[in-house]
Amino acid sequence: MKILAIETSCDETSAAVVESAKDNSHVKLLSNVVASSMSLHAVTGGIIPEIAARNQIHHIIPVIHEALEKAGTSFNSTHSPVIDSLAVTFGPGLIGSLLVGVETVRTLSYIWGKPLIPVNHLFGHIYANFIETIEKPSETIPFPLIALIVSGGHTDLLYMKSHSDIIWLGGTRDDAAGEAFDKIGRLLNLPYPAGPLIEQHAKVGNPKAYHFPRPLMYDKAYDFSFSGLKTAVLREVEKLKNDKGNSLPLKDICRGVQDAISDVLVYKTLKAAEEFNVHSILLSGGVAANQTLRNKFQEALNTNTKLFVPQKSLCTDNAAMIGAAAFFRNKVVRWHDVSANPELYFD
Ligand code: KG4
Ligand code: ZN
Repeated sequence: MKILAIETSCDETSAAVVESAKDNSHVKLLSNVVASSMSLHAVTGGIIPEIAARNQIHHIIPVIHEALEKAGTSFNSTHSPVIDSLAVTFGPGLIGSLLVGVETVRTLSYIWGKPLIPVNHLFGHIYANFIETIEKPSETIPFPLIALIVSGGHTDLLYMKSHSDIIWLGGTRDDAAGEAFDKIGRLLNLPYPAGPLIEQHAKVGNPKAYHFPRPLMYDKAYDFSFSGLKTAVLREVEKLKNDKGNSLPLKDICRGVQDAISDVLVYKTLKAAEEFNVHSILLSGGVAANQTLRNKFQEALNTNTKLFVPQKSLCTDNAAMIGAAAFFRNKVVRWHDVSANPELYFD
């Protein structure tokens, strides 16, 4: 089975073709094209929804063409591509951006007569772990498992007994982990998105210079909160500004911030893994591209649990993960009944 998937929930415009791998435990990546308007947002320090959507309208058809061609098929006004199904992110996300993908795919489903699978972007992130690429051969992922989604918009912990039996355990009460990286980055005058830059600076930062708060770390609930961390950094930056002559110890602050965020994520995820006695832990979302976080998880694991992380390029938003989620959670919906839902969460 071959799926053409589209993702336009935030600032990326992406199309990918995935195909079921032999034993149906993974999907094989045939193509994954991502056009980003990130450089436009770096200037403004964050995403401006209308600029993102206008850019996506411009990119959507060329990106679909390129993804199909790379996967060995194509389309024109007289023939449709050789695929079995279409998939699209229908939420959560920015309404203007979601509409670009959803309306394009509804039209293609109608004119090509292909089934359409609407996908929750958050499940998409988790299913990046089920993609087999040349760089990352597939490895069986044993259930039950705990999945941690850490992206710019979300921090969620889920208990998955199977592909269809899923319990949401908790999420962020305020800022998401990626959002905390980005907002703290702005306080430190780093361009958007700040996560990868904070990771770079933290590599040479002194781990003992700052100990920022680890919000809700020992709380019984599986919820997260990162806005207090941002306030603690703001206070520190203001103090340093008032002490004239002091330059900002950027690397040390970055190290302190990254340690605080990763300690909370690792501690709570491992606590859930122990409580539910799972075989696997799956990381996903843009923040899961952070190598220090990956290493911390690996070091903290017990011998009965295996850690799975997507290839780094598949942690941030992409259509391949949407194709993978569509394959495993295959729920075809008539094109008339698919609509964008910016507030979508877990049912
Ligand atoms: O999953 P994603 O592409 O978008 C959403 O669905 O939100 O995640 C983007 C987020 C941004 O907040 C970015 O700063 C963060 O992922 N990020 C990182 C790293 N790479 C991306 N955060 C920390 N370390 C990284 N290496
Ligand atoms: Zn995302």
